[in-house]
Amino acid sequence: MFYLKEIIRKYLQKSLFFYWHNVFYYLESKLPKFYYLIKITFMKIKFNILAKRFDIFMKNKFYFQLSSGLVFLSLISCSSISKDMDIIDTNNIINANSNNSKIVLDTQLGEKLYPQEAEKTKMIEDTILSGLKKEYQKPPVHRDVHAKHHGCVKSYFKVNNSNLPEKYRVGVFSQNKEYQSFIRFSNGNGKPKPDKEGDVRGFAIKLMGVPGKKLLENEINEQTQDFLLINAESFFIENLEDYTDFIKATNQGLPSILKFAVLHPKVSYRIYQIFKQQITSPLETNFFSSTPYKLGTTAVKYKVSPCGSENTKISSKPSDNYLRENMSKSLKQKDACFNFYVQLNKGNFETMPIEDATKLWDAKTSPYIQVAQINIPKQEFESKEQMQFCEDLSFTPWHSLPEHKPLGATNRVRKTVYETISNYRHTQNGVQRKEPNSF
Ligand code: HEM
Repeated sequence: MFYLKEIIRKYLQKSLFFYWHNVFYYLESKLPKFYYLIKITFMKIKFNILAKRFDIFMKNKFYFQLSSGLVFLSLISCSSISKDMDIIDTNNIINANSNNSKIVLDTQLGEKLYPQEAEKTKMIEDTILSGLKKEYQKPPVHRDVHAKHHGCVKSYFKVNNSNLPEKYRVGVFSQNKEYQSFIRFSNGNGKPKPDKEGDVRGFAIKLMGVPGKKLLENEINEQTQDFLLINAESFFIENLEDYTDFIKATNQGLPSILKFAVLHPKVSYRIYQIFKQQITSPLETNFFSSTPYKLGTTAVKYKVSPCGSENTKISSKPSDNYLRENMSKSLKQKDACFNFYVQLNKGNFETMPIEDATKLWDAKTSPYIQVAQINIPKQEFESKEQMQFCEDLSFTPWHSLPEHKPLGATNRVRKTVYETISNYRHTQNGVQRKEPNSF
């Protein structure tokens, strides 16, 4: 009984922590500047009063029974999710989703269709679209996520495949070639917020002059290859069930967000881990694909790391756009550089799963291999035209050669969602959606 009490105690501690954390984030997004007062009060409640009262709470028999019931219910809901994840035998099942786009599963690379995947995809897409329509009653319509960009910079993606085993020298990594490219640096939130707020940071790179037929049916002849990365090695959502709940909750407001946080403490914890990182400059940050991609006959994840180890100091009161300012200051003075790596999947899908992007692939079993260097020449990127160009660009992991096909349910959902959302914002803004060919 003691152990059970301890387990429940720890579980509740975590749930309550994230409960308050999410209230706190919600308030942050809703309240004007004076929220700092509330923030301080809130932190006091969170860390002091709540922590002290917690033991008394647990000693009360009624509350103990109530909490046990709640934990029991959440555990049941978790186990029903994992039951849903049970393997379905899918030999190259074709998944038609709402844009009528077809995706052939690479079952030999560990892909498995998620139960009711087409329905879940449609639900995610509809929820995001309706959220966007509600948010922007009139143009300009921004991205549903990663709305704030720090800028789009010109760069050169120089492939060096000498460390890559020959059988994996495919697609853009087939030859040691240099590609012109644009990188869009962003904050993950759907609303532009001061950079000091906790957030996911994005790094989206578009290579130009890449020959070969591409995966998107509507853009099959485009000459671009995109790689999308964030500053988190693993994604925070494990499966489409949770993603659907997450998107719905964020659309519905506070009570739903709280319910989601309590019922999904692991997701809340992962979001917290990402949000608590404070970055100095986008040019000094590591980025990861977090989801897997095909590389010839295997799967890989991508990583991008700064070549140097510079660490710009952040002032105690950083400005709202300090990430752009730091990047701009640095690029006015000198070039910047990143190394681009792939991590090979070794074929054991238990330890290196394709369908669960929350699981890290062990870097000892499969170290990252450098396959390219990204050089960002000294430049100014903040002109009005360049910032607008950046806003109007579209990145999707499906702007891709078949050799680098996105893998796993999270990526499959992205095929139709990115297309729909990008089309919607371009149509509403009266801007033609087009891929660049060169600088
Ligand atoms: C089911 C999962 C996901 C959904 C539904 C989703 C949805 C979206 C949407 C709607 C956009 C805006 C597209 C546009 O208007 O052009 C976007 C942008 C972005 N997403 Fe995701 N996303 C998902 C997972 C991920 C993951 C796993 C990553 C990790 C790398 C990621 C990284 C990004 C980045 C970096 C951008 C900004 C791209 C840009 O600069 O234009 N997303 N996402």
